[in-house]
Amino acid sequence: MSNQESIVKIEVKKNGPLRVITDKMEIDIQGKITVKESAASFCRCGKSQNQPFCDGSHKELEPFE
Ligand code: FES
Repeated sequence: MSNQESIVKIEVKKNGPLRVITDKMEIDIQGKITVKESAASFCRCGKSQNQPFCDGSHKELEPFE
């Protein structure tokens, strides 16, 4: 049995995607802490061929907010 706690970070990349990063912290019964990170990038420019995810197409565009 273990305790779990998740931390979610959201970053808006300048001229790029919205990046969602999750750190999941697990604490086992001996008190050992393990942190696992996962992340996904969501398209903000509308040009990705793999919506809703970023495929890097924004790099070909003019800067945007
Ligand atoms: S933000 Fe990366 S492809 Fe749209």
